Amino acid sequence: MSVPLPRPPVRANPRLADVRYDIRGELSRRARELEAAGRDIVHLNIGNPGRFGFAAPEHLRAAVAAHVSDSEAYCPQQGLPSAREAIAARETARGAHNACAANIFVGNGVSELIDMSLRALLDAGDEVLLPSPDYPLWSAAVALNGGSARYYACPAERGHLPDPDEIEALITPRTRALVVINPNNPTGAVYPRELLAALVAIAARHRLVLLSDEIYDEILYDDARFEPLAPLAGEVPTLTFGGLSKVHRACGWRVGWVSLSGAHEALAEIHHALDLLSSLRLCANVPGQWAIAPALAGPDTITALTAPGGRLHEARRAVIEHCASSEFLDVVAPQGALYAFPSVRAAALAEFDDHAFALDLLEAENVLIVPGRGFNIAQANHFRVTLLPPPAQMREVFARIERCLGRMATTQRRHVA
Ligand SMILES: Cc1ncc(COP(=O)(O)O)c(C=O)c1O
Repeated sequence: MSVPLPRPPVRANPRLADVRYDIRGELSRRARELEAAGRDIVHLNIGNPGRFGFAAPEHLRAAVAAHVSDSEAYCPQQGLPSAREAIAARETARGAHNACAANIFVGNGVSELIDMSLRALLDAGDEVLLPSPDYPLWSAAVALNGGSARYYACPAERGHLPDPDEIEALITPRTRALVVINPNNPTGAVYPRELLAALVAIAARHRLVLLSDEIYDEILYDDARFEPLAPLAGEVPTLTFGGLSKVHRACGWRVGWVSLSGAHEALAEIHHALDLLSSLRLCANVPGQWAIAPALAGPDTITALTAPGGRLHEARRAVIEHCASSEFLDVVAPQGALYAFPSVRAAALAEFDDHAFALDLLEAENVLIVPGRGFNIAQANHFRVTLLPPPAQMREVFARIERCLGRMATTQRRHVA
């Protein structure tokens, strides 16, 4: 009888070697193990509003519930016409050039559309300009679709804003697109109008496509003002991404959209590509699409949370106040989105390593954060937290963070002595 040969491991796509998503990586696997062993872990690693008791607005729930029985068939590959009309109306009101329902694609969250757009756009070796730090799906989707990321720095010393000259210096004949994440995840930066205008001018000069991730467009603090990119871009081809996950706290419904704007003739080929890719997956989940029109035309439900006294505002205040009095931490006050991106001062903790710290904090203090390097920066001195916990819990969690940093400093002093 022949002995069966051992099977070689099933090989995975080698492009995955360049892909990371630490937000749900090793540390969150370890957190699940600790939870299974009875520990109570605070999950600051992910911007998942429902996990912290936030609910989708009642009128959106009612719209989805009322249309469950209209949601059983596939819908058009671009999305429900009524939903696309509502998105187009908003884009047009904002001043986007040539925004119309025919130029909108609805997807299973912005996540699906980021991947689909880069698949539609990139040939092997094409380069894409990405912020560093970035939301790591952007880097992943560039790599998986055969492209190559070129990072422009958005350091804390500049309030996490990019320098247009540095961006322009990165451009080569292979550069295809410039990605803007505004308001930014992970830093909370909100880009001023003049900066956005400078980015548009670069895209125009070098014939780049602008990819503008605006999923946090209405999550703003203090006097921050959001400027949509498409109206400033005018004829420059622009893909604007938005959705229900954050502003409308309905991330589990998986509803996002991309709006194509700019010169009509510049959009024909990419429109065709997106239409084809959308058809291949038939359509996005239908039930949640019924919430798009009421979300965009209905009452503002986010400002009550981001204004002084609101839960997100007060959680953010807890982080800022803690960092201001911390022995170790600095933070650029987030102007928008759902995160803070503190850094550890080298003078206070010279050998700080974001990964070692995140693991220590999880094991010793039951707090799960994401190391800064998970967002494609080289420096090991940052970490990201979400602002979603209630303010009192946020204060308590930062006390644990400080305690953990204090222990690291003591250990470091012992090594030096
Ligand atoms: C900047 C940014 N873009 C896109 C997404 C994906 O959002 P969704 O797929 O839920 O629409 C996220 C999620 O956290 C994000 O932070």
